[in-house]
Amino acid sequence: MVQVIEHEHQKEIIFNELAAYHKNPQYLAYRKRWDEAFKERDYGSFPVNLDVSVTNHCNISCQMCTRTIARQDMDLWDSGKFFDPKLEYLDFELYKKVINEGAEKNLGAVHLTGHDGEPTMHPRLPDMIEYAKGLGIPDVYTHSNATLLHKKKLGERILQAQPHRIVFSVDSPVKETYEKIRVGADYDRVVGNIRNFVERKRELGLIFPLVKVQMVVMKDNESEVTRFKQLFVDDIGVDAVGYSEYLDYQELNDKREHRIDAAIQGGMTDDYVCDYPYRRLRLDQSGLVYACLVGMAHKLGDARTTSLEQMWKGEYMQFLRNSHMRFGASGTGGCEDCGRQFRREQELISEDDLICSSGE
Ligand SMILES: C[S@@+](CC[C@H](N)C(=O)[O-])C[C@H]1O[C@@H](n2cnc3c(N)ncnc32)[C@H](O)[C@@H]1O
Ligand code: SF4
Repeated sequence: MVQVIEHEHQKEIIFNELAAYHKNPQYLAYRKRWDEAFKERDYGSFPVNLDVSVTNHCNISCQMCTRTIARQDMDLWDSGKFFDPKLEYLDFELYKKVINEGAEKNLGAVHLTGHDGEPTMHPRLPDMIEYAKGLGIPDVYTHSNATLLHKKKLGERILQAQPHRIVFSVDSPVKETYEKIRVGADYDRVVGNIRNFVERKRELGLIFPLVKVQMVVMKDNESEVTRFKQLFVDDIGVDAVGYSEYLDYQELNDKREHRIDAAIQGGMTDDYVCDYPYRRLRLDQSGLVYACLVGMAHKLGDARTTSLEQMWKGEYMQFLRNSHMRFGASGTGGCEDCGRQFRREQELISEDDLICSSGE
């Protein structure tokens, strides 16, 4: 069975019986809330999705990642503009406190990731998955570079915890390209880790997690899209592949200049209203909560002392929603440089090449 799920800027193609899970009433109710939250501007009393950055440590340096870019320029790194220079792991007790609140307030999804970090470096990632699943959150998912699955039986522990989905960021089916993009990672090790993960899942007879392998499409790898699907779907047997848009920060700044020129000349008819303030919050490894997944703007407060509901319904979030409605992203302080507003202008990839989401 193949199911196609359309997201705002992406499509997701799922290749097997897991598509049936997406017909589960609890899952459908959460997806309905996700759609309506933005369409109807109905943000409710709690976000639908919580993005949890469990760490900002990483073991590799991908060429396109903001983390790598910031590390190459210590002034940028220290400025804290894109990235928190203090490297940390999220405290497990604080995580539990926040997830407990979410479970009481109908939270739909917990995304365990790194805000520019590698979540599998957190020693309690499997416990975090298990905890959120144990409280009945309908969509518990994680993102990983798959470099560490062979260590300390991590792959096995993740399989036992059974997140609903896991996304492996791989970027290329070719060793040379892969190692040029994902600097410090070993192609053979990563492909072997994913192969073992999928085989072991099959051996255990597990339905979850849905395994998706994803590439950020850039000049270096754009010719490898078909081979990517052949290797990971046809040969290894993952459940889905994803192709996501490359955000080139310099190019986006140039586009922003053009956009501002167009606005001054009256050539712009619409502006980008962001969906995040209606759908999701980010809990960082530091315990601080942000209204946005990108960068360090829009800090709302500290999860140790303030409930997420208070933050979600608070004055700052109202200001952000109102400002986006009236002035769009380019007229909202802290959002002017955001690449998401330019995404609609970009041609991602042809319809024939299976396009998947980046985890939304
Ligand atoms: C920042 S990583 C964090 C999780 C984990 N370390 C990983 O690599 O999957 C989250 C996702 O962002 C993607 N990413 C990194 N830099 C990007 C860029 N410039 N444009 C688009 N996606 C990017 C990564 O490939 C990954 O899939
Ligand atoms: S593995 Fe993830 S966090 Fe680490 S450098 Fe690559 S994209 Fe960034």
